[in-house]
Parts: sequence; structure tokens; C-alpha cells
Amino acid sequence: MARHLITSALPYINGIKHLGNMVGSMLPADVYSRYLRQRGHEVLYICATDEHGTPAELAAQEAGLPVSEFCAQAHDQQKAIYDGFQLSFDFFGRSSSPQNREITQEIARELHRNGFIEERSVRQVYSNADGRFLPDRYIVGTCPHCGYDKARGDQCENCTRVLDPTDLLEPRSAISGSSDLEVRETRHLFLLQSKLTEQVEEWIAANADHWPVLASSIARKWLTEGLQDRAITRDLEWGVPVPADVWPEMAAEGKVFYVWFDAPIEYIGATKEWSDAAPAGEVRDWKSWWYEVDEAVRYTEFMAKDNVPFHTVMFPATILGSRRPWKKVDYVKAFNWLTYYGGKFSTSQKRGIFTNVALELLPADYWRYFLMAHAPESDDSSFTWDLFASVVNKDLADTLGNFVNRVLTFTRKRFGDEVPAGHAAGEAEQRLGEQLAELLAEYEGNLDAMNFRKAAQSLRALWSAGNAYLDEKAPWLQVKTDPEAAALTLRTAMNLIHLYAVISEPFIPTAAKAMRGAFTLTDDTATWVSPEEAQALDFVPAGTGFTVPPVLFAKITDEDLATWTTRFGGE
Ligand code: 2FM
Ligand code: ZN
Repeated sequence: MARHLITSALPYINGIKHLGNMVGSMLPADVYSRYLRQRGHEVLYICATDEHGTPAELAAQEAGLPVSEFCAQAHDQQKAIYDGFQLSFDFFGRSSSPQNREITQEIARELHRNGFIEERSVRQVYSNADGRFLPDRYIVGTCPHCGYDKARGDQCENCTRVLDPTDLLEPRSAISGSSDLEVRETRHLFLLQSKLTEQVEEWIAANADHWPVLASSIARKWLTEGLQDRAITRDLEWGVPVPADVWPEMAAEGKVFYVWFDAPIEYIGATKEWSDAAPAGEVRDWKSWWYEVDEAVRYTEFMAKDNVPFHTVMFPATILGSRRPWKKVDYVKAFNWLTYYGGKFSTSQKRGIFTNVALELLPADYWRYFLMAHAPESDDSSFTWDLFASVVNKDLADTLGNFVNRVLTFTRKRFGDEVPAGHAAGEAEQRLGEQLAELLAEYEGNLDAMNFRKAAQSLRALWSAGNAYLDEKAPWLQVKTDPEAAALTLRTAMNLIHLYAVISEPFIPTAAKAMRGAFTLTDDTATWVSPEEAQALDFVPAGTGFTVPPVLFAKITDEDLATWTTRFGGE
């Protein structure tokens, strides 16, 4: 038994996330956490909302709320949606928590003490109309290279050239549109990443070989481009304040840390939030997960590929520079993009499906299974309503749902409310058992390796094996000539249902619970089973009471498809 620390990239607070966001971070982390828990490991799955930065301030402004209030509401709103998706966080915190502030400030103090933070003077664009300094991307103007008139201060979207805001012709504020801008001198703290290059390189060299290529290649690419010193403070109202004991003047000026400085530290902060929220009598030792940790803790991070540089280079540099024994990531599971008909899911253009809307259409299990079965692992993958409907209808409604329903309904009709006994297992059951053992071992291997698409394939193969067995034995015919033979088939099929309940839980927890709940068992747990136990298929003995649960998965009709394609836009 190992101790698994698991985090998924912190969803940003400024709006409800779409499915592309869910599939590349929280959902796979949840599937993995559930699997490991079932296998008896100690798991701590931590996530939080990422609440600081300019986009949060702007979203609050748009909502007409003070930013603290906006974030509190938006946090609760996101949390409710993730509960709806059955995400089994041990804690879902907030990067604006006092815990994160304390730890972020402490790490900054350490970095300062070790000579890795320096105060530097910078010239930055100030908007008189907005009364604030403008981050690069909030300055727009005409690109000096291609003439595109909506180029951002950090990059021209049209010709992709990287820009400096002072390059822009006719610059204006993206917030107010005002061109009353001036360049002002201000001071910021810089993290001297250049001085940490060698240590980050060493750490990556020692670790990245074990990561999936997507993560290790991005990390190495960043290293070859060289680590630049980076401003880690901003002139914003909302953020972790610079500690006044070290930088009194900056603190007095109201400087806060840059959102990407404090966000990853919130993985630690949220663990402390979890610890501080322990019910009376329960001890939660957050430091045993993060600080001076023994080898027994294995830390896995889940994220989309754009987050990889921050997690494999910048956050490790921060931690290494603190010279404190904070735990560093062991395995970085990164994802490509889920597209909507080959194009970007876009929050601003309202293209694609948002997580709250998804749950209004269908229960979480439908989305969870589809998303993981088509996770953008080795490449981007595309959501289309046709594909979604065909996967739901074939895999969930036909292969699993219909199997469960016809076995239980038919058994009740012919044999009553208890699992029938029938003949002893024969040659067909022997063959089925061997097949199950093999497939289950393959499924475990894929889950251990976090190959979620392949894992979903193995799971579907396990469901299919049950269907093939049932079709071969045809108990609806057996019952006419040899009821005891039919009883054996149905008892075997009912044991398959119980097996499916246990092993499907990481992907479809609600259906899994319904399948398990169909049997009157005193020991109703979802504890994992071994390939040998799967082969023996002896979970629900003859005489066990059962009920027939409501249909597990409804089919998506042509009418649904037409409605949704029109509503959300296809093609
Ligand atoms: O990309 C994002 O949405 C960021 N909010 C992810 C932060 S992950 C962690 F480092 F905080
Ligand atoms: Zn351009």
C-alpha cells in the first residue's frame, strides 16, 4: 500500500469551465484517485479554484461585484458542478485562502533569503482612464509587422509574432478602450530563474524520463530555451500581498504576487486547508504529504499541455530555490486538447459545451465515460454529437445497461427474487473466467499506467465478454429444456454484474453504485477484485436477494441529436 498525492490543475475562477477543461485535468485525476482508493491505497486528491489575477478582477467588474464576493460565489458555483460530476476531491480549496497566503509568503521569504529574488525597476504601461497598470495582454493596438489592428501587447494573433506592448502602433486599453496611456516606472520582484537553471536541469534529467512524452518533451523544450528571470509581482488589488517584513515599501504600495506564483503553491495551501478543516477528533497531517516526505508518497499531477511549463519548470524552480524539503512531483500526466468539431472550445465565443450545461442534458456518467474513452492523450481528439451518441448508445446503453437489465429482469421472471443456483460451473464458465482474468489484468495495467483511453477499451471488452457469454448460452432457450442450465447461466451473469459494479466505479460511479445496490449483500463495498477473483466469479452466491434497478443508461435518440446539434452548433 502506497500513499498517493494527486492534484489536478486548478480551474480558473473567472467562469464556468467547458468539457475540454474537465477532460484534461479534474476528470482523469478523479478516475485515477477512485481506482487507487479501491485498490486500498491511501489517496489524497486535492484541487482548488485559482482565484487571483487580472481576469478575476475583470470578471468581478463585469458582474458588478467586489472581487472577493465574486470569487466566493464563483467558487461555490464551480464546486457544485464538480460535485455533480462526482469528482471525489478530498478537498477543493481556494487559492485566496489564508493558508495559501501564509505558505506563499513563506516561500517568497526563503527565496529572498537564498538570493533568488531581486527587486528591479521596470517600465510599464499605465492607463489613466482605468487607474491601473495594464498587463501586456490588456493593451491592444496595430501590429507593426502585419498591420492587424487587434494585436495584443504580448503577441499578435494574426502573424503570431511575439510583441512588446511598446511595439504596438496606436495602443489602447483592452479594458476601457482608452488611448490615454503612459509608460511609468515601477518596481517589481523578480524570481532569478537563471540562477536556478542548473538545479532545474538536474531535477528534470533525473525525473522526466519516467513521464509521458508529452510532458517531458515540453519540459525539455523550455530548458533549451533557457530559464529567464521573471517578474513575480503585479500592481493589483487582489492577490497574495508581498510580505511587509521583507519588502515594506512594496507592501505599502500594495504589490501582490503574480497569479502563476501563488497558484501552484495552492496545491500545498489547499492541503493545509483540508487539514485545518478536519472534523473534531480527526487528525489530518498536511505536512506528512508535502514536507520532508518519505519515499512512500507518490505525487502525480494532471494538467493540459499549456500548463506543463509552469509545473515542470517554474514551480520546481520556486520549490528548489526555497531550499526546503517540499515534495516535488513524481509523475506529470499531461493532455492534448479536446476540440469541438476540430475547432477550439472557447469560453469567450461560447463554442462547445460547458460543464453546467452538460449536466442539465445528461447525468455525469455519460460524460465521464465518453470523455475518458476519447481522452486527448496521444493527440488532440474531437467532440462531435454523432460520436458522443454512438459511444453512449453502443457502450453504455447496449453493452452494459442492456446486459444488466435483461439478466436481472429475465431472472426475476423465471426464478424469483434470489440469485438461482443451477448446475455447477462448466466448460463455458471456465473459458469465460480465463478471459475475464486476462482482460482485468490488462485493464489494471492500463489504469496503473494512466492510459485512460486504453483502460476504457479494456473495460468495454470486459462488458462485451459478458454479452458474448450470454448470447452463447442463450438462457431464454435453455430455460425451456434445462432450467438448471439456465440458472447457472444467469447466476454467472449476475456475478458478472457485480464484477462490473466494482471495476466500472472509477469511470461511472453512479451506475456502479446502482449495480452493486441491486444485490442484498451485507458487505457492500467497492473494494477491487483480483484477476483470480474475477476468474472465480463468486461474488453473489445462490440465494442472494436482488432487485432490478431502473434502466442504467437511456439511449440518445435521433431527436436529441438534432436538438443538441442545432442548439450547440455542429460542423
Ligand atoms: O490554466 C489554468 O487554468 C490555470 N488556472 C491552472 C493553474 S494550475 C496550478 F498551478 F495552479
Ligand atoms: Zn501581426
